[in-house]
Amino acid sequence: MSQMHHGAANGSHESQEHEGHATSGPGASAAAVSCTELKEAQPAAGEQVRSFALTAAKTNMTLDNGKQTEAWTFNGTTPGPELRVQEGERVRVTLTNQDIDKGVTIHWHGVILPCSQDGVAGVTQDAVWPGEQFTYEFIARHPGTYWYHSHQQSSEQAGKGLIGRLIVEPKQQAFKYDRDYAVTLQLLNEKWKLTNGHNEGVQLDAAPGETVRLRLINAYSEVQWIGVAGAEFQVISMDGQDLNGPGMLREQWIPIGGGQRYDVLFTMPASGQVKVYSKEHKAWNIRLGSGPTPEALSKDAPDFDFTNYGTPLDDGISSEMKFDRVYDLKLGILDINGKKFHEIPPILVKEGEWIKIRFKHTFGGPHPMHLHGHVFKILTKNGKPLTGSPIYADSVLLFSGEEYEVAFQADNPGLWMEHCHNLGHAANGMTMMVNYEGLTTPYRVGTKSGNLPD
Ligand code: C2O
Ligand code: CU
Repeated sequence: MSQMHHGAANGSHESQEHEGHATSGPGASAAAVSCTELKEAQPAAGEQVRSFALTAAKTNMTLDNGKQTEAWTFNGTTPGPELRVQEGERVRVTLTNQDIDKGVTIHWHGVILPCSQDGVAGVTQDAVWPGEQFTYEFIARHPGTYWYHSHQQSSEQAGKGLIGRLIVEPKQQAFKYDRDYAVTLQLLNEKWKLTNGHNEGVQLDAAPGETVRLRLINAYSEVQWIGVAGAEFQVISMDGQDLNGPGMLREQWIPIGGGQRYDVLFTMPASGQVKVYSKEHKAWNIRLGSGPTPEALSKDAPDFDFTNYGTPLDDGISSEMKFDRVYDLKLGILDINGKKFHEIPPILVKEGEWIKIRFKHTFGGPHPMHLHGHVFKILTKNGKPLTGSPIYADSVLLFSGEEYEVAFQADNPGLWMEHCHNLGHAANGMTMMVNYEGLTTPYRVGTKSGNLPD
């Protein structure tokens, strides 16, 4: 996420840019539907709307250690306000850009919503320029842990602070807990490692015997290994999707890729304190309750492995089923199938089809591959079917040499990004589209329009 990277990204955009975007395939016809028409239906009479206002602005932040840094904030803080809504509620968010000269948007990361509300500059809307507003509206259909960030120059803008949490509380708790906390891990201005905006960690209330749901959100591009010390824990949700029959764990590091969310559940011990450590960064610590500080996990503790965790549940989706389309995506250091940005042919789908994507990591650093507008099922890792709970997610993290197969049904027409959520990688070309046939957009990516989503 260095400035140099970003400069290079802009350069790539310019040199490839014909004020177009790979957003309509051979299937697009005269009868094409514009993404802008895909919205929620009007609210029913008497339907409640949860309204929020978010203002993007430059803010001088004072960190816990007294140091000052300029952040780009929503409502004066980074992360911006935590938006908490109930499953099924209609959410309306008015974004105002006060003074971010490069323009801003808000993308609702992981939320299944109509395409026109996805917040991608140049694909689903124009960037919102200083003095302008844009109102997002969607129904929070799926409970879970989500987040939001600008998808205009997302690498730079998320790094400068234009991020926040979105929690959709379940109508019925699948898991019981007394306390529900969410913590964002963030690297601000390429320098400050913040937990919920604090460079010295956070302290959360919890009493012995209470059960805590802790939602961990990695808003930083690099993988973070997070470990719970002082209590046994369960991983109850990944990317906002509940797991089936998650077992008790102890002394494991959870590798959380950029953009990913892991929810853990634990009961506070009689000794009083649980501490959540990060393997790489001492600055990121989360303490719950009080009492003696539990010892850190050993660096050699095993990594959490979701491929054999929890209880199977047959949903009929497997790598053997018949797929309408199968795509192979080979991930290079900063490319997909040897190509970058709009050179990468979009994945073309028709509504209703079942799609399988085979990701193959060839060489280099980890890639958390993220798909907009859909949840996929992770079918196999390195050719072997998962044997535990079904895992549904909006991203899959690949380390060097790994292969994953994922499947999704094309059930949400639109033009959707598929990209690495190491946002520096995306800004260097690891970004492509999943496009439904017959869908178009009036928006354009490029220096002329000023819409630069990555
Ligand atoms: Cu966090 Cu394109 O997304
Ligand atoms: Cu990557």
